[in-house]
Amino acid sequence: MVTRKPVFLVIGAGAGIGGHAAQRFAVGGYHAVLARRSDAEGLQKLVDAITEAGDEASGRLLDASLPDTIEELVEEVERDIGPIEVALFNLGAQIGNRSLADTSDRMFELGWRLATYAPFRLARALMPHMVSREKGTLIVTSATAAMRGNAGQHSHAAAMGGRRMLCQTLNAEFAPQGIHISHVVIDGAVNAPDTLGKMLGDKFEAFKGEDGVLDPAAVAETYWHLAHQPRSAWTHEVDLRPWTDVPWWNDN
Ligand SMILES: NC(=O)c1ccc[n+]([C@@H]2O[C@H](COP(=O)([O-])OP(=O)(O)OC[C@H]3O[C@@H](n4cnc5c(N)ncnc54)[C@H](OP(=O)(O)O)[C@@H]3O)[C@@H](O)[C@H]2O)c1
Repeated sequence: MVTRKPVFLVIGAGAGIGGHAAQRFAVGGYHAVLARRSDAEGLQKLVDAITEAGDEASGRLLDASLPDTIEELVEEVERDIGPIEVALFNLGAQIGNRSLADTSDRMFELGWRLATYAPFRLARALMPHMVSREKGTLIVTSATAAMRGNAGQHSHAAAMGGRRMLCQTLNAEFAPQGIHISHVVIDGAVNAPDTLGKMLGDKFEAFKGEDGVLDPAAVAETYWHLAHQPRSAWTHEVDLRPWTDVPWWNDN
């Protein structure tokens, strides 16, 4: 498919932040490309919701932990769909709380592979395209674990801390070339049925309450804003939490 629209690419598109961001950018005139690991039916539902509203979207199944998957997707989208103006690296690396003794080498390394190495690979594939156009935005969804360690979070916090430092390093190299890199600290629970919902199972509905969890549609509005900031006033890092939550730096 060839489209003249700019592309919004999201890697890690479930029914929470990833899917809502895709919808927001599609409404705003982008062709949204949604990629997720395993749920073909869930992916199709997200794509259909966008196209049935008259906007453009495509879906791809992709495991970001496997070699060449991200790189091949970037090349395919640039060649067959359109220029990737905004990319969102959205998948997390939460493996649940585990003591040090219960954190295997494989678990520790998987955290790094998903949280740090995968966005590095996305940036390496994407930056030459964005730099050649002298514009583009890379938004990276992150978590409280990028800001502080906590009990049971050996793999997750070490890897998400790496995600934050990767974003700062990318910013140092690419902001002067016109590319906006933004690291978004999601400092609270999200109304995300495919991630938190699956972790909590039948406790999810009660846990969500009314507006005590982050609304992914509201998060998507922030992403839209970030991608459209004038370059005289770029945000490199932003944090979001529900009004009822204590921020990570006030929490004890
Ligand atoms: N949910 C929360 O409460 C919460 C809290 C703090 C921070 N965050 C951050 O928010 C981001 C996730 O947003 P969300 O929770 O709203 O989720 P979401 O956008 O609803 O879904 C994320 C999707 O990522 C996909 N994914 C996971 N591993 C993947 C892989 N190896 N390759 C490709 N896709 C993969 C999953 O696809 P499949 O379902 O197909 O496997 C999942 O549906 C993460 O960066 C996380 O750190 C979330």
